[in-house]
Parts: sequence; structure tokens; C-alpha cells
Amino acid sequence: MSMKIRRVETTPFSDQKPGTSGLRKKVKVFRQPHYLENFVQAVFDVRPSLKGGVLVLGGDGRYFNREAIQIILRMALANGVARVIVGQGGILSTPAASCLIRKYKTQGGLILSASHNPGGPEEDFGIKFNTPNGGPAPEKVTGEIHERACEITHYRIADIPDLDLDTPGRTTVGPMVVAVVDSVNDYAELMQSLFDFDRMQALFKEDRFSMRFDAMHAVTGPYARRILEDMLGAPAGTVMNGQPLEDFGKGHPDPNLVHAKGLVDTLFRDNGPDFGAASDGDGDRNMILGRHFFVTPSDSLAVLAANAHHVPGYAKGIRGIARSMPTSQAADRVAEKMGIECFETPTGWKYFGNLMDAGRVTLCGEESFGTSSDHVREKDGLWAVLFWLNLLAVRGESVADIVRDHWRQFGRDFYTRHDYEGVDAAQAEAAMNQVRGQLTALKGRRFGDFTVAQADDFAYTDPVDGSVAEGQGLRVLFEGGARLVFRLSGTGTAGATLRLYVERHEADPARHGEDTQEALAPLIGIAEEIAGIQTHTGRETPSVIT
Ligand code: G6P
Ligand code: ZN
Repeated sequence: MSMKIRRVETTPFSDQKPGTSGLRKKVKVFRQPHYLENFVQAVFDVRPSLKGGVLVLGGDGRYFNREAIQIILRMALANGVARVIVGQGGILSTPAASCLIRKYKTQGGLILSASHNPGGPEEDFGIKFNTPNGGPAPEKVTGEIHERACEITHYRIADIPDLDLDTPGRTTVGPMVVAVVDSVNDYAELMQSLFDFDRMQALFKEDRFSMRFDAMHAVTGPYARRILEDMLGAPAGTVMNGQPLEDFGKGHPDPNLVHAKGLVDTLFRDNGPDFGAASDGDGDRNMILGRHFFVTPSDSLAVLAANAHHVPGYAKGIRGIARSMPTSQAADRVAEKMGIECFETPTGWKYFGNLMDAGRVTLCGEESFGTSSDHVREKDGLWAVLFWLNLLAVRGESVADIVRDHWRQFGRDFYTRHDYEGVDAAQAEAAMNQVRGQLTALKGRRFGDFTVAQADDFAYTDPVDGSVAEGQGLRVLFEGGARLVFRLSGTGTAGATLRLYVERHEADPARHGEDTQEALAPLIGIAEEIAGIQTHTGRETPSVIT
């Protein structure tokens, strides 16, 4: 194959600072001449080990995925990458990419996704670099990439025709090998090593049990079909919306009560399935439902931790648990009972990486529908679903019974998140400032039955490398453990999103059946009194309540 390597002059873009999960922008922004190329060259420049090394490459299949992959392959060749492992059709879920990066001891991976944000020519695209441990690049590395992108003067790209991404196998392009691999195989093998596939198969053989998995026309379709339907024998049709589409069927591929409403309705009707689950655009989030029952992500983490001994991959015991700060304290109670460490980190999966690498934690979870373990270094939607399925198979109880039984043992942490999406950035900032201004004065203040024990701006010191992350959310902690947290989203692409997280522990089983919003109404009122979110934003209600 003839190939010419070009050195293309370029100038920096001022907006290439990676956010919570890499660089996310509208497709139109990514399509500007040199935009993607600058960022990718910055990655190659600050990761010299990629030269002569192996790179994993794939994405969630959204609009621009294939085009971006072709560009990156041409640049990988020009930058001396020895081998690129590409998911067939350009498809790799985020956890599957993490699995490949680790399994084949590569020098890292580029994952193309804007996660749960909508896809299409007018919508979002994203790219992030994962390090050889399989996890999202830590702040130090994203900082270096950003710095490099700010001073870039040229990039290198090879002139070669588009490569075939659809046929598994190896192609040699000049000195580089491109290995197109089945997107699912290695990931499915990893799942088989963790879960009891025989018992789960037996569960699907009982005609008493049925499940629906909503792939939301996003990346998990092929993974869920292969694992649930082909390997575990779930009847065809168990996986809904299983065909990945470039625009996710015009949906919003975020597995929550609002965006996965079709699935939720199915589970909340009479005689619906026993178990329901969904995953997001790139397959790292999960939502778990039972019949007439929604499991909060915070409870899910706690239940998985308390039941880990039922699952082969964790039967020897778990080392520790980590949760993001706004996630409820349900998992802390489990860790305490098990006598293991529990860590509270800032929002963002990358903060779990060091703890897992150091062998301090096995399970991690976030309220934002993320749960996973140290089998990869990303959150893993389908893993959480299989974990639940394994539990259901072993315990032979319903989802609701398992969670209620958990509450009886540990008490219930009533939990809700109120999102004010797409608000004016200055107004959101004003509400945050109002809280910030009161942090010192709040201590000791009484609001009805609640007395403030402590109020602060959350900062985290990584126990492994000592790095410090400040300004990670405003916390109002009450005596007895109730909490309010105020935080600005780090992932939105339009205006600002203000999040209010509310929780309260209830020990009395007689009160565990209460409605969450009612059980938390007094605290929600206190939050408004403290922050004046509705006054500042002019919104009478949150846009999303989970
Ligand atoms: C992404 C990250 C998660 C994080 C979430 C927070 O999904 O992968 O680890 O919890 O963003 O989003 P937010 O919009 O609350 O900043
Ligand atoms: Zn995601």
C-alpha cells in the first residue's frame, strides 16, 4: 500500500480542555478542520510509549465514530504506533475497551463516545484517552494533553485509503498492524470468569423468570444479545432496542427513570418481567429495576457489596468499597459491618483508579448510575446487570425482596437527586455562592428536626498519591447523618446543570415503605431555604428527579 506521511501545519483551539470524561463537544465542533487531529496529536505527543506500542481504538457507534476512527488510524500510522486493536465496525463499549487495554497489556486506548449524551450530526461526540491500567487518564495526564493541545503547531497523518473495519482479522499498513477484533469476545470471556453462568442459565429455563434489557439503541446491544440471549439462553426479545444506531434512534441513551421510560413502564405494569435493566450510550452506566421497583444506584452498590460472597468472582471476599461523595452512605454501613475500608471520592470514575490499582478497593459506585469492580478500570453497565442476575439466581428472591431485606439489616438510606438542567450559568453560580457564603455560619444551625453538624466545600486527598482535588461540591451534613449536597455538573454541554442530592437514614422498618420524595420533603425544603435554587433560576421544579 502506498503511503505518504504528511506534516500538517495547524494552530491550537482554545477549547480542548478535557472535562470529567474526556473532550466532549458537538459533532460540528469536532468536524472543524484540524480539530480532532490536534487533540489526537497532543495525546501522541505526551504519551511517547505509544510509538512502537499498542493502542486500543473503538467507540459507542455514534455519528462520526467511523470517520474519527479512520482519521485516528492514519495518525497512529504516521506517529509510529506498532499495532492498533480496533473493535469490529468501530464498536467497543467503554468497559470492553478497558478490558482489552488491560488484557493485552497495551500502552493505552482512545475511546470515542459522549456517553449518555444524544448522538447525530447536531449532537455530541467525544474522545478520551485511557492509560495502560485501562482507566480514564488521571488529571495529571489530561492536563498534559490539554497543555500540549494549547501549543500545537503541526500534526502527522498518513495518506492512506480508509481501512476495512468490518471484517475481523489483521491488516498490515506499512509498519503498522491493524487488528480488527470481535467487539464482544474478550469482554464476554471476562464476564464468564466472574459470574456463575450455569446458575443464570438455569434461571432463564424457569418459565417463572423473565427479564428485559434496554440497550437504548446504543453500544450494549451486541454485548447484551450475545451474553444474555446466546450464552445464557434468555429468550429472543429479552434485549430491547438492541441495534446500535448512529443517533440512538433519536433517543437520549441515559438509563434513568426519565429517559428509559419505556422500560420503566414495562416493569411497573402488572404481570411485567421480574427484572429490568438498561445501559447508556457507551455501556458503562446501569439502571436496575425489579417488578414495580426501582433500585437506586446507591442502594445497588450497597446490596452488591453485602452479597458479593454469592458470586464466584468475589466469593473470596472484597477488599474495600469506594463511592463518590454525593452517593448515599448505604455502602458505608456495609463496609463497616464487613470490617473493610470505605472511601469517599469526588465525582468521576477516574478517582477510583488509584485505589483499585493499590488493591485497596474491589467495588466502586456512583449515584450517577455507575457501578463496577476492579475487573476493569471503568464503570461497567452489563457487569452490574450480570451481578444482579447472579444474585437473583442464587437467592431465588425478587429484586424488591432482596433490597427490602437489605434495608431491614442496615436501615434505609432514603435518597434523591434533583437536577436543574440547562440553567443560566450565572444563575446556577449565584445559588452555589449563596450556599458557599453560609458554610461557616451553618454549623450548629437548626432547621426543624435537623441540626447542621458540619458544612464544607468537599476536598479530597488521594490516599495513594497524595494529590488533592478541591471544590468538589458543597456539603451540609446534619447530626444523625442526613445530608444535602449542591454541585454543578461537569458533563453538560448546554448552560449549567445544578444538582441537589438529598439523603436521610431511616432505621425503622415500619417506615421503609414511604415514598422517597415525601420522606425527604423536609430536607428538600431546607435545601431551598439554604440555596434558593428556585429563586435564583426561576425554575419551579427540577427538570429531572431520580
Ligand atoms: C460521567 C463520569 C461519572 C460521573 C458523572 C458525573 O458520567 O463518567 O464518573 O459520575 O460523569 O456527571 P456530572 O454531570 O454530575 O458531573
Ligand atoms: Zn457512559
